[in-house]
Amino acid sequence: MVEVSIMARIAVTDGMASEAVTVLEKAGHEVVLGFIEESELLDGALKDFDAIIVRSATKLNAEIISASDGLSVIGRAGVGVDNIDLQAAGSAGIMVVNAPNASTQSVVELTIGHLLSSLRHVAKSDRGMRDGKWQKKEMKGTELSGKCLGLIGFGRIAQGVATVAKTLGMEIHTYDPYLPPKVAKAQGAYLHKKVDTLFQTCTHISIHCNLSDETHHLVDEKRMRMMPGRKGSIQCGNHIVNCARGGIVDEVALLSALDEGIITSAALDVFEVEPLPENYALVQHANFHGTPHIGAATLEAQQRVGLDIADAVITGLSGKKPKTLVNGQFL
Ligand code: MLT
Repeated sequence: MVEVSIMARIAVTDGMASEAVTVLEKAGHEVVLGFIEESELLDGALKDFDAIIVRSATKLNAEIISASDGLSVIGRAGVGVDNIDLQAAGSAGIMVVNAPNASTQSVVELTIGHLLSSLRHVAKSDRGMRDGKWQKKEMKGTELSGKCLGLIGFGRIAQGVATVAKTLGMEIHTYDPYLPPKVAKAQGAYLHKKVDTLFQTCTHISIHCNLSDETHHLVDEKRMRMMPGRKGSIQCGNHIVNCARGGIVDEVALLSALDEGIITSAALDVFEVEPLPENYALVQHANFHGTPHIGAATLEAQQRVGLDIADAVITGLSGKKPKTLVNGQFL
């Protein structure tokens, strides 16, 4: 690992809270703010930098990493590191650090917001009003209270969602193959051994896992059809929320499920392709509402993310092991 203790040059390509820039500068480093196009990154635009701090817009693949000789630290101002080739960074001796805790509360709140908004047609009503419609009769919703919420993944964010959902009277179910059963028990959540039984039990599903080969299109047509919201005495319909990562929900299957009425409402903050392709059919569906990947986009989360990542990058540049090193196994 290269040790750079003073006056490192740090590129910040996707924006960062000004307080965090100040922290980096006070530590003696030079901060260069501004987005760098992929072609420039491939041309070695990072050669004169010791560190780079990105959010999700800048993608650091193996080719870009190999064109960035001088780097010793990559900071991901957020949780997900799927835009960084961790192995390539490790092989090049570059530490990758993230800020995994800072945005938890903001994502919890957006998830609950999407659930409530879906069930009470908030976005749909607003769209109608803008068209001059008063659709009081059409906007009959359902309550969250008394319904089964299935959380895919049961990390910090899902547990925060569970806490709020329980106070709203929901019964909490989860599928997380990596979770010690005692964690689910302590939170009063029913832990499913199979993801299919979660879908068979829950009328409301919210996703809180990483995107991986294992979770790609985990929410597919077959599983959406398993949901119980239109069967027997259950009449609340089936609802899906994803504020985790695009690609976990099969969006083509979701659109068909909305068309068929198998899924009553869907709310996504994250998509398979971001920004969305032009005229994307899913977002035009009446029972869909979306937000443009804003889970962590609050004043508070961005301040915390910035300060946490600045701290981790400063530690890494000093040659010490940051607490949030994510590619230790490759270094
Ligand atoms: C994250 O991984 O921290 C969030 O998805 C926020 C983001 O990428 O902007």
